[in-house]
Amino acid sequence: MLIQQLTKHYGTKRVVDEVSFEIPKGKVLSLIGPNGAGKSTVMGMISRLVAKDAGLVHFEGKDLAQWNSRDLSKRLAILTQSNNIQMKLTVRELVSFGRFPYSQGRLQEEDRQKADEALAYMELEAIADQFIDELSGGQRQRAMIAMVIAQDTDYILLDEPTNNLDIYHASNMMKIVRRLCDELGKTVILVLHEINYAAFYSDYICAFVNGRVAQFGTVEDVITKENLSAIYGVDFEIQQVAGRPLSIYY
Ligand SMILES: Nc1ncnc2c1ncn2[C@@H]1O[C@H](COP(=O)(O)OP(=O)(O)OP(=O)(O)O)[C@@H](O)[C@H]1O
Ligand SMILES: [Mg+2]
Repeated sequence: MLIQQLTKHYGTKRVVDEVSFEIPKGKVLSLIGPNGAGKSTVMGMISRLVAKDAGLVHFEGKDLAQWNSRDLSKRLAILTQSNNIQMKLTVRELVSFGRFPYSQGRLQEEDRQKADEALAYMELEAIADQFIDELSGGQRQRAMIAMVIAQDTDYILLDEPTNNLDIYHASNMMKIVRRLCDELGKTVILVLHEINYAAFYSDYICAFVNGRVAQFGTVEDVITKENLSAIYGVDFEIQQVAGRPLSIYY
């Protein structure tokens, strides 16, 4: 997926300003940067939930704008940041719900299998028959992620998937993202505030500041003391841990 000069205004405010980056197939890209930097708006535009004002998204050989919605939903799935579905659904029903673009209104064996796989990935089997409005915040977040994974699309976009997750479930989620890429060839774009998850589990990082790309490159290119201090306005130290540049901030 190639993104060129993507731009979005709200009123007179330019919230995304000529943003360009590329993600090769089968890789993990994390978008980082301060609140309000434009990350979710970019995610919205590259999934067509938000209309762009200018720029281009090349997706699988054609302009994203030319995709038929149903075909697009079979290739690309997104978990948005405000993902609070209020419906009397069980976890299993919610996760199966992700299969509807494929199932012509009636779940087939394959749909059930994909839903069960996603429930297992997110370790939700024990609560699969509970209603989603009766779950904790982190359990609900995991159910939402499972719904997106169950869609089994080539491209998976997750806006702040680690929100509300404890350390165990957050790192489990990141490991699953890695497996989806490394074993199944999926392409994953994440928005993360946990820079160390981004550094440890991504291939590429795009850092946003004020609607613009401040840095784009490999983890090693972007995760430096100087870059992070400039992006976030706090002091950072970087240590190599397991071959990755991990950050401490204060
Ligand atoms: N629908 C909207 N109408 C008006 N302004 C909007 C709208 N959506 C976003 N904005 C503005 O666009 C800017 C970027 O918002 P965006 O949600 O993309 O930021 P973000 O980088 O995802 O931040 P966060 O880390 O807080 O999620 C913000 O200033 C926000 O107020
Ligand atoms: Mg956001």
